[in-house]
Amino acid sequence: MESKTILITGSTDGIGKVTAKALAKQGHTVIIHGRNLNKAKTVCAEIKSETGNEKIDFVVADLFLLADVQRMAGDFKKKYERLDVLINNAGAMFGKDRETTKEGLEKTMALNLFSPFLLTQLLLEILAKSPAARIINVSSSAHAMSGVPNLNDIQLTKNYSLGSAYGQSKLYLIWVTQYLAEELKKTGFNNITANSLHPGTIKTEFGQNADKGFIINLLFKLSMLFAVTPEQGAENTIYLATSKDVENITGRYFANKKVAKPNPKYYSAENEKIIWDYCMQIVQPYLNR
Ligand SMILES: NC(=O)c1ccc[n+]([C@@H]2O[C@H](COP(=O)([O-])OP(=O)(O)OC[C@H]3O[C@@H](n4cnc5c(N)ncnc54)[C@H](OP(=O)(O)O)[C@@H]3O)[C@@H](O)[C@H]2O)c1
Repeated sequence: MESKTILITGSTDGIGKVTAKALAKQGHTVIIHGRNLNKAKTVCAEIKSETGNEKIDFVVADLFLLADVQRMAGDFKKKYERLDVLINNAGAMFGKDRETTKEGLEKTMALNLFSPFLLTQLLLEILAKSPAARIINVSSSAHAMSGVPNLNDIQLTKNYSLGSAYGQSKLYLIWVTQYLAEELKKTGFNNITANSLHPGTIKTEFGQNADKGFIINLLFKLSMLFAVTPEQGAENTIYLATSKDVENITGRYFANKKVAKPNPKYYSAENEKIIWDYCMQIVQPYLNR
């Protein structure tokens, strides 16, 4: 298999870490990303020693902060001339009370939607240099349980619930992936594909520490009884990152290594464009590529 250069966000733990290790084993150049310098260094060293692959590096950024995403993308472009696969994996579910980042953005939307949106925009020019680049956005089947999205209040200032925030962030991530795939085709970037995926219900640190309130805590614990290993979850991402089967597929949502249909309930081309335009407006101040 040809060696690719692959950047994976949120690869200091959970599905991202397992994905990074598996791709390192295949001999690719893997740049892991974490928010904690020491943890990123440790994971980097661990992957090198376990796989024997020395082409492992790391970048650090707090993905709550778009200014940090911008700084990290700049650092990446200074160091690397090529990027074949961008895996926007980092994501999380937060607590029962709405919280904002230091930049004033609702936390779930900042981490799960605006941050991958911005990172992708900032790295498009380097992805374009690859003969065949892939953008993979890790979404969730929870997008289908998002409740009714209010496109006039995307950051849920009025009716916040953690389920709506998480589900809607993942729904919008699917929509912006679809929109991006079309934009790439229209603008002649036929060498870049963009797809999203659901990794499965996976036993990781995901959602474990959030104060979700009694009922959701209980439901969450019950759902974890059926959760599978991070290795099983990572299979979907590894498939989208490397399989020849998907080299010409773009704008699709995958589950179980197959094209799946995202929940169509709230979808319309108009709604998708509203979300795209909103994300563009949010990230605009950080777009000096
Ligand atoms: N687990 C599931 O059942 C499930 C189901 C559907 C979808 N997903 C999606 O799969 C993806 C990976 O989840 P996971 O289960 O592997 O979660 P995880 O075990 O909690 O790992 C999340 C990763 O993201 C990083 N991260 C979290 N917040 C960050 C921030 N503000 N800035 C930078 N990095 C940050 C974490 O860094 P630290 O190492 O520093 O914590 C970690 O590396 C997420 O997008 C999640 O929404 C998961």
